[in-house]
Amino acid sequence: RADDGYRLWLKYNLIADAAQRKDYQKAAQFVAVSGQSATLKVAAEELQTGLQGLLGQSVPMLSDAKGKKGGIILQVDAAAADKAGLGPDGYRIYSDKQNLIISGRRDVAVLYGAFALLRQLTTRRTLNNLNISSAPKIQHRLLNHWDNPNGTVERGYAGSSIWKWYELPETIDPRYRDYARANASIGINGTVINNVNASARYLTAEYLQKVAALAGVLRPYGIRVYLSVFWAAPKVIGGLPTSDPLDPRVKQWWTSKTDEVYKAIPDFGGFLVKANSEGEPGPQDYGRTHADGANMLAAALGNHDGLVMWRAFVYKADPKGDRFKAASEEFLPLDGKFAPKVLVQVKNGPIDFQAREPFHPLFGAMPRTPLVLEVQLTQEYLGFATHAVYLAPLIKEVLDADTYAKGQGSTVARVIDGSVDKHSVSGMAGVANIGSDRNWTGHLIGQANWYAYGRLAWDYALTSKAIAEEWTRQTLTTEPQAVQTVAGLMQQTRSIYVRYTTPLGLHHIMGESIHYGPQPWLERSARPDWTSIYYHRADSVGLGFDRTARGSNALALYKPEVQKMWGNAQTIAPDYLLWFHHVPWQQRLSTGRTLWDELCQRYYTGADSVLWLQRQWAAVQPQVDPVLHADVAARLLTQHKEALWWRDACVLYFQTYSRRPIPAPFAPPQ
Ligand code: GCU
Repeated sequence: RADDGYRLWLKYNLIADAAQRKDYQKAAQFVAVSGQSATLKVAAEELQTGLQGLLGQSVPMLSDAKGKKGGIILQVDAAAADKAGLGPDGYRIYSDKQNLIISGRRDVAVLYGAFALLRQLTTRRTLNNLNISSAPKIQHRLLNHWDNPNGTVERGYAGSSIWKWYELPETIDPRYRDYARANASIGINGTVINNVNASARYLTAEYLQKVAALAGVLRPYGIRVYLSVFWAAPKVIGGLPTSDPLDPRVKQWWTSKTDEVYKAIPDFGGFLVKANSEGEPGPQDYGRTHADGANMLAAALGNHDGLVMWRAFVYKADPKGDRFKAASEEFLPLDGKFAPKVLVQVKNGPIDFQAREPFHPLFGAMPRTPLVLEVQLTQEYLGFATHAVYLAPLIKEVLDADTYAKGQGSTVARVIDGSVDKHSVSGMAGVANIGSDRNWTGHLIGQANWYAYGRLAWDYALTSKAIAEEWTRQTLTTEPQAVQTVAGLMQQTRSIYVRYTTPLGLHHIMGESIHYGPQPWLERSARPDWTSIYYHRADSVGLGFDRTARGSNALALYKPEVQKMWGNAQTIAPDYLLWFHHVPWQQRLSTGRTLWDELCQRYYTGADSVLWLQRQWAAVQPQVDPVLHADVAARLLTQHKEALWWRDACVLYFQTYSRRPIPAPFAPPQ
């Protein structure tokens, strides 16, 4: 039957190679699980379903494996896990007395191990002499849904929300369980189910019942539910005249509301807050700080096992200021002022999920505050569900960036995992790209972004190439050459997208408010820092935003080593050039070309590279399901059309400033 993409990377199709199947069959003759917990049950069931599908044989479930060989045994073993340093979520898979043991400290660790074992088969790796240990580097591995009560998804491009609020709590869409399976399979253990531009409605008694029903489906899979809160909820649904965090009535309201939430959802994860940002209300409305607000919520959580994730995505509409610095200006003075249950959630870059951004200067600059890294999986600025952009290279670029906070090697990854500043709590958030489309993410490559996010939140040391190969094997084909071709093209997609949209460090020149397509000529907008000319600063002299000491001096927010790396227009990597420098059109770059020629070169070769993507994709046609193949092939046609649109719009617009000809060989014939 045709593959509609619904089963994601959990397909469990029969392994075609009989010899390989036989090999696996010997090791997977039964699944044994003692203990009755819901989590162990789903672990065993997943193994059973998976193995039966992959191996084409029935795999019995036993409660005791005594004296038996050739099977898989699930084991919760706290002592062994502690001895092996696996932590609460880590697992070990090993061969013992001709059985395969999956063990971990808790049930959910065993569930992760079960998925890892299935991954061995779905990627065709051996089961012989296994000894795999794996523990997550980040504790709270969250998805953030920007889903609204009316079923729309802010910046969502894969249909509507998968949460059917009007049917809940009575009707449980089977899709919720598949969502949970997919997430658990990659280690995601929390989900914020509603938009950061939050509706107060989720905190009403009516909605808490619905949320509790969802939490009940996700719980066996180790996924905790979180809510985004609307700061003014005490006014809107609580009937209070204020939502001042220092007002005793407000504190009382949040405390009893939080108790009510935990009564309905005992393992509730906590609150995510967007406050005093883009028009949302917040503590500053009452002359209070972000810390006052966050700490009040932390106090309301009291002894409940929950967290407050307070977002640092704030900026002011100041045409003379630099939005790059806004979050630092507001949050740096608050370092050390947040209560222990508070984490500050920071986007990967200082502006807003652009195709390439320098790492956010808050990373490494708030040693006394645990920071959550927020990345965006939904492709708001990266071509929606039309452009193939594999995001692991982008996420890795940020994780691997060195902040030099405590000397060399203080990477963003090590800041957020708590090791640089010795924090005991850590988190990562991915803004979900999931919707009601049959294949969940619209573009098939979007599935890889969801997958890669989970894998990187578990282990940021994985390479984006290895993840692409792993995903391809499970989702599309195991034929080695085709895997190389698909993973190879995926690896290039992000840099190709950057080249035909915002090369050399250009940013924020996309269509107004929709954030799609080019609009570098945008001069007026509802807000002065939402225009394109504010960001690209093109003039007759040159192009780019001077953020050195001669300009906004945003560079000073970084450690001296980073300033050195980016502060000199001659030596900065060209990929970041226009983020930090206003460069004359005729300036020769390290590439040997002038700025203008290099800009043209990148726009033209970037757009042409989409044809290369098409050819690579065409080459794997015999190995890939025809429906999936045709869908991606069609999207690649649109992508090329739109790459030309971006190229022509930007080159012709910037040419009105550079007043130079488009260089050969790109110049259109006269
Ligand atoms: C972007 C996006 C908004 C979103 C905001 C946020 O600005 O366009 O839709 O609400 O980010 O992250 O809060």
